[in-house]
Amino acid sequence: MTVLSGKKILLGVTAGIAAYKAAFLVRLLVKQGADVKVVMTPKAKEFVTPLTLSTLSKNEVYSSFTHQDNDNAQWNNHVELALWADLFIIAPATANTLSKMAHGTSDNLLLATYLSAKCPVYVAPAMDLDMYKHPSTQETFEALERFGNVIIAAQTGELASGLIGQGRMAEPETIIEFVSSEILKKLPLRDKKVLITAGPTHEVIDPVRFIGNHSSGKMGIALAEAASQLGASVILVLGPSSIPVSEKNIAVIRVTTAQQMYDAVHQHYDATDIAICSAAVADFKPARVSNEKIKKRPGQGISMELEPTKDILASLGLLKKDQFLVGFALETQNELENSKKKLDKKNLDLIVLNSLRDKGAGFKGDTNKVTFIDKDNKVTPFDVKSKHEVARDILKHIITKIDA
Ligand code: CTP
Repeated sequence: MTVLSGKKILLGVTAGIAAYKAAFLVRLLVKQGADVKVVMTPKAKEFVTPLTLSTLSKNEVYSSFTHQDNDNAQWNNHVELALWADLFIIAPATANTLSKMAHGTSDNLLLATYLSAKCPVYVAPAMDLDMYKHPSTQETFEALERFGNVIIAAQTGELASGLIGQGRMAEPETIIEFVSSEILKKLPLRDKKVLITAGPTHEVIDPVRFIGNHSSGKMGIALAEAASQLGASVILVLGPSSIPVSEKNIAVIRVTTAQQMYDAVHQHYDATDIAICSAAVADFKPARVSNEKIKKRPGQGISMELEPTKDILASLGLLKKDQFLVGFALETQNELENSKKKLDKKNLDLIVLNSLRDKGAGFKGDTNKVTFIDKDNKVTPFDVKSKHEVARDILKHIITKIDA
């Protein structure tokens, strides 16, 4: 996953020689997981073909207000295109297009789309060095920045004219790095450290047996991925789970037992801003671990002494300074009452209740049905949602609370 994954990116291509680099830019954006559509000025088609860009983007390329030049022409809706986009990148942006953008001219589809756009707009100018330096171009840049557009400065080097100076469009890789870091800077959890527990724990009986539970770890992994996508630096302390963690940026600490989970969590808790305990930690462990496999004897049962594991969440509640602490509750009866008690007892800021009585909630599935109970006793029930959506709801709630 990258910050551009799943983003809808509209790429505007105007008529400069650097338009050939738009093909590389489309390819890189698609590789980053973005959904890319291209809008071109009519003249830009002389520099790079719509076929190249539609093949690379896997989407239709737009360049005129109508679909075909005949009586059955269909309107290419610039407003729809503009509102579709999460980001609009115009690269290359010629002096001509930039000047028109600064003055509100809308004599082609790209410009009309720009005027209709509500999303962030990035422009990567490309022109000869004297055009770039010209006071009118510099004024255009200032005007565009005043309007909220972001300019990705041209680079210095050899230009199409053979002259050397500033005017080369930023390289596609640079544009991607620039836009990604701008997005990262604006993410709501960008400076936050988030610690998450997930999965079951296995409490060892002997070299081949353990006490465990059915937790898959899906909910906690979804939380870690969502937090990372919101810019947080995430540590995921994960019990035995076969679910892959797809985000590269998550630091995963694999543990087996409740004690190992406890130790890992306590190593990082001090520096944590938000801790979310979603693990289904085994409540009991064998009082003694056998070094050898316990042999069965015909017709004989065995009894085993169990002792409680440490309650990780409660221990974090005791040590809590400024951390926002979230726990889960899995209840089958008196759900709200029991959850509120747990919230107080463990000194939590939020408890997420799953009721096993609800369809779509629970350990193994891809969905969950939760109710939030916060410190002020506010109860917020949700419908059945995917675990990824539930994760986003939880983080959205935390963000409103820590920003308040
Ligand atoms: N938890 C924990 N360490 C434990 C046990 C639980 O961190 N040893 C955390 C879980 O990750 C979860 C919450 O505590 O966030 C669950 O609380 P718990 O008291 O175990 O309640 P339930 O398992 O929901 O139910 P019960 O109290 O009935 O056991």
